[in-house]
Amino acid sequence: MTQHIHPPQILVGVSGGIAAYKACELVRELKRAGCAVRVVMTSAAQAFVTPLTFQALSGEPVRTGLLDAEAESGMDHIALARWADQVIVAPASADLMARMAHGHADDLLTTLLLATTAPVTLAPAMNHQMWAHPATRANLALLQERGVNVLGPDAGAQACGEQGPGRMREPVEIARALLHPGTGPLSGRHVVITAGPTQEPIDPVRYIGNRSSGRMGLALAAAAQAAGARVTLVHGPVALPLPTGVRAVPAETAAAMHAAVLGHLDDCDVFIGAAAVADYRPASPCAQKMKKDADTRALELERTEDILADVARRVRDRSPRPLVVGFAAETSQLRHYARSKLETKGLDLIAANDVSAGRAIGTDDNALLCLWPGGGERSLPHQPKAALARMLIELVVERLDKH
Ligand code: CTP
Repeated sequence: MTQHIHPPQILVGVSGGIAAYKACELVRELKRAGCAVRVVMTSAAQAFVTPLTFQALSGEPVRTGLLDAEAESGMDHIALARWADQVIVAPASADLMARMAHGHADDLLTTLLLATTAPVTLAPAMNHQMWAHPATRANLALLQERGVNVLGPDAGAQACGEQGPGRMREPVEIARALLHPGTGPLSGRHVVITAGPTQEPIDPVRYIGNRSSGRMGLALAAAAQAAGARVTLVHGPVALPLPTGVRAVPAETAAAMHAAVLGHLDDCDVFIGAAAVADYRPASPCAQKMKKDADTRALELERTEDILADVARRVRDRSPRPLVVGFAAETSQLRHYARSKLETKGLDLIAANDVSAGRAIGTDDNALLCLWPGGGERSLPHQPKAALARMLIELVVERLDKH
């Protein structure tokens, strides 16, 4: 961060959304860290939290309008834009991002965002469908291209009752990223994660796939990133939006995923195999679409590469050796099979989940039994996958410390 002779001066922009209440916590965190904080609210934000709340928390008058003669005579909007060492918009709504991407200056916050030369960070929060909408994706891409930092959003339970990526990142984590970039427990670390299903072609239009949504792997990528890691996410075909700020490498088949992983292993500190990789693929996929010219048909399958086992094997003699983490999906004798996978694949940690009776795969919630060599284990209780991913990343940090 830039060195200041004065305490860091942070302008917090609050746009309209239920996560506006979390901005109160952010202001408190920043004040606690010794920052001078000024808050600017959009008119929609005031439907959720009153300016008085932010005034009490920041100890400064809160600005809400562009054409407020009295406020402008104190510190006009250009002076306010210059005052800021950093600008954080939390929550950043879909509308705010759209107005910002298109250079609108139709209220005080968007005007300040055009006028400031300070680094700008957004902490988006919105319904997950709005976050996934192509318009929002395009605005996000444009803003990132112009150098705007984006923190989150994280996946999890939303105020609308749905699950998905769209929750504002936790205020403590936003404050840490603003004030002490690169100090998360995984900062300086490169985490490579596989996620989602693979699709193994039978012919040009058919494939063997599975029910994995990629939700757990994506949540792990977001959690590792929030912990400060540089993340490479090698993912199969997934419908969910990918976390911002991670390097995403698409791979459709087990073979493509294997090649992509090997291409990112050189400086890897942690490898997490969360993908549901096909164990078998059609031995000779047809070049032409197969015709229904027989009553029965047999499909010859051959084994795919075991990416996780291969990674563990390849890094075995490295120093320092990356931490290799795998998953085990079992329908019975969870602990027994998971421990034997841990040993045979040569892993440092395995997260086992019970996939009997439609549990875990393609769902929002899960529970994990985590095992590591030497007999250690920890149960992570049943909860939404985003929260579970954060707990698993905490365990990865612990295991890495003892590695
Ligand atoms: N995995 C992998 N490459 C494969 C198959 C699995 O990297 N070709 C990884 C998965 O990402 C997961 C772990 O291996 O981290 C365990 O996968 P699972 O399907 O539970 O076990 P398998 O080893 O495939 O054994 P089995 O199917 O016999 O239970």
